[in-house]
Amino acid sequence: MPNRVRTAVFPVAGLGTRFLPATKAMPKEMLTVVDRPLIQYAVDEAREAGIEHFVFVTGRNKGVIEDHFDKQFELELTLERRGKSAELEELQRELPQAGQASFTRQQEPLGLGHAVWCARELVGHQPFALLLPDMVFKARPGVLKQMMQAYEATGGNVIGVEEVAEADVSSYGIVGRGEGPDAGFRITSMVEKPKPAEAPSNLFISGRYILQPEIFGLLGQQTRGAGGEIQLTDAMQTLIRTQAFTGVKYEGRVFDCGSKIGFLTANVVFALERPDLAGHLRRELRALDLDL
Ligand code: UTP
Repeated sequence: MPNRVRTAVFPVAGLGTRFLPATKAMPKEMLTVVDRPLIQYAVDEAREAGIEHFVFVTGRNKGVIEDHFDKQFELELTLERRGKSAELEELQRELPQAGQASFTRQQEPLGLGHAVWCARELVGHQPFALLLPDMVFKARPGVLKQMMQAYEATGGNVIGVEEVAEADVSSYGIVGRGEGPDAGFRITSMVEKPKPAEAPSNLFISGRYILQPEIFGLLGQQTRGAGGEIQLTDAMQTLIRTQAFTGVKYEGRVFDCGSKIGFLTANVVFALERPDLAGHLRRELRALDLDL
């Protein structure tokens, strides 16, 4: 049995420049898909997968994320007094238990790899999950839970992947596929933003990882890569020489809510799934008589 994955890391220190001016004073991870912040989707997915320790790598202007995962006494009291018990129960259910959330700061946004490295002391020498909160999934069970099932069989490192149109491979990290089924196949290589002719497959790394702690040492040694940032993929490319990486082509699909199109699409799709909104939203959209 591989070591159990108890800890998840959420890097939330990026500048979110694609969403300016919304993200000038507010973190991108607090943008909402319908009525839930992006970070809440990632935390819920981690909890469903059995995670007990939630590590947030934050930066300047991100205090509101810490507040979001704290108890709000005044609000709870007001909801109670007004008899809004459903809302109150939901708030309480979503809150990590006391001591389950840890926060550390990435002092400069030096890239995703650097943000992950900043979590090393809080994670310690154990495997951990890594969830990029701007990637929101429609998947049941959640993507991390599907990956945990593969991890229990294989151990090592696990990466969630999804198919992308061939023309778009150059926007993503792409994996090479070795033997094994969709639920757990051997990853043979990883390439960051390859030209379509050089891509080893059309399977892209969509923001969910289970990683072994040896990644921290590699991230610490690394110099800045593409875009002047410390890249996670560079460290994983080194780690794959000595450790197994398993790919999980999960059931479900991702919405890249770090991009405006992904974010807008997710809002429509998730709202159309909500029993309290779907009927009304459909009527409103039809009434607009959009020429789509
Ligand atoms: P992105 O590259 O999508 O986020 O990083 P960004 O840099 O904030 O966005 P743009 O491109 O400027 O619009 C994916 C995740 O990694 C975090 C981000 O907060 C996001 O959740 N990240 C990125 C960090 O924590 N630190 C960094 O230095 C970079």
